[in-house]
Amino acid sequence: MLRRFIRTKSRQLGSMAWRSHGVDNNDLVNNLYKNNIIKSKHVMDVMKRVDRGSYCPNNPYMDAPQGIGFGQTISAPHMHAHCLELLKDHLKPGTRALDIGSGSGILTACMALMVGSSGKVVGIDHYDGLVKMSIENIIQDGKGSLIDSGTIILLAGDGRKGYPEEGPYNAIHVGAAAPRLPEDLVNQLAPGGRMIIPEGPEGGSQSLNQIDKSLDGEVTRTMLMGVNYVPLDDLRQRGRFAEF
Ligand SMILES: C[S@@+](CC[C@H](N)C(=O)[O-])C[C@H]1O[C@@H](n2cnc3c(N)ncnc32)[C@H](O)[C@@H]1O
Repeated sequence: MLRRFIRTKSRQLGSMAWRSHGVDNNDLVNNLYKNNIIKSKHVMDVMKRVDRGSYCPNNPYMDAPQGIGFGQTISAPHMHAHCLELLKDHLKPGTRALDIGSGSGILTACMALMVGSSGKVVGIDHYDGLVKMSIENIIQDGKGSLIDSGTIILLAGDGRKGYPEEGPYNAIHVGAAAPRLPEDLVNQLAPGGRMIIPEGPEGGSQSLNQIDKSLDGEVTRTMLMGVNYVPLDDLRQRGRFAEF
């Protein structure tokens, strides 16, 4: 039986969160670093190696979410940077990671560079078309070998169920807001692992939460900051089959 504790930490990103626009990927990442959103050289190097221009058709170097089709968005670079900073100690070489709501594939690619060739990252999105697009994006970014080698696995499916076949995971990132914490994802988190997940109702009060599982299985939830994400939902209930 898991025991849970809730604590709140105020970690607002500050007024610079939306002001890191760049003229190209290097400039964008340098600005995220100057504005203290990126805090480590490691995350800076990884984000420089993954060019947002390959994942985002419009205004890729603006620090804002952008449409990627299927009514979905690629998240703002400052959110990617923040989540990678929070997860970086759990994305060491050889570790396993899960990226739920992988969308454009950008964060899956960043995580794959961090876990290296002895690690694995599973990306899941419920739009088959987005999964295909994310594979094309990663190839366009010159990182097709990460897919060929099996370091990255991209799958279409309901991310709320995770992917136990490749678990447990040292790091789990969820890119859409869950109305409640998905039990399957908690179960697939490895002892000592961390999950970053937005929780809350669609269009309502949501918080970005950090879920830590201790080595003896104790689960702690830390509320980090208020956010506004698209919902982690059920395609069937929304009748969106036509958009696949
Ligand atoms: C804000 S987008 C972020 C995508 C990605 N992190 C990026 O920045 O490109 C959220 C993604 O979650 C996906 N999604 C929502 N509910 C899902 C579910 N139940 N299972 C899998 N993916 C889901 C959406 O299709 C969308 O691509």
